[in-house]
Amino acid sequence: MESDPAKNNISKSSNDTHSRAALEVRHISKFWDSPAGRIIGVKNINFTVRTGELVSIVGPSGSGKSTLLNMLGALERPTSGQVFISGIDIFLLDDSRVAALRNKSIGFIFQSYNLINRTSVQKNVEFPAVISGMDRSTRRNRALKLLDFLGIKSKAQFKPFNLSGGEQQRVAIARALMNNPTIILADEPTGNLDTKTGTEVFNLLKLLSSKFRRTIIMVTHNDGLARMTDRSIQIRDGTIEKEVINTGN
Ligand SMILES: Nc1ncnc2c1ncn2[C@@H]1O[C@H](COP(=O)(O)OP(=O)(O)OP(=O)(O)O)[C@@H](O)[C@H]1O
Ligand SMILES: [Mg+2]
Repeated sequence: MESDPAKNNISKSSNDTHSRAALEVRHISKFWDSPAGRIIGVKNINFTVRTGELVSIVGPSGSGKSTLLNMLGALERPTSGQVFISGIDIFLLDDSRVAALRNKSIGFIFQSYNLINRTSVQKNVEFPAVISGMDRSTRRNRALKLLDFLGIKSKAQFKPFNLSGGEQQRVAIARALMNNPTIILADEPTGNLDTKTGTEVFNLLKLLSSKFRRTIIMVTHNDGLARMTDRSIQIRDGTIEKEVINTGN
């Protein structure tokens, strides 16, 4: 079983990782106090995600999906509660250690791609590895292999704004994979794409979960795509309303 899309022959996974928790969320809450009163982002959320699982988070606008995802990725600290990544209680770490863990262990994909338009596709993909200190030639090689894996190697020297939406999201996926993270967090990754392109991008995420055993948590408004994930967590008013195991995938 491959573990790294940039390589064909590396095997880090084994059967004993199948049931291991990649991510554990314990009593996570996020509030903001404003003059108008307390704003609830999320309230006492609990769930566990297994290694290699593809989980969707669904719910109405304003229900707390992005707030939750940002805390899973340590972009924001919770008001209370814990997030464990590979057993590490991440909010016990200081800010620089949290940043290092995020850079190494987590890949982010956003609805609007969040690419840097003034530099090339290849440099965008390399960026997380510049931060983690990967040497230049390894970095370049790896970025090109990932772009090749995603079918857009020919666009390596283009600026992102010259690419289609689907191609830009593939660049964002390549960037998310650059440091070979265990967890990929995607906030409405198909939200700006037409149905066909969105399905193609989703199928890439599904492949990363099923073949490469990346753990993926995807926020989506698309019920059809949510049903094709292993499990859907439905959020309403900042709490989990329901969890559905999607069979037949
Ligand atoms: N930094 C912040 N300060 C104050 N309130 C916030 C902040 N971030 C989010 N909120 C509030 O928290 C609630 C949840 O927002 P969130 O962005 O998580 O919703 P969402 O489910 O992602 O919605 P959408 O589907 O529209 O993206 C909203 O009421 C929002 O206004
Ligand atoms: Mg959101």
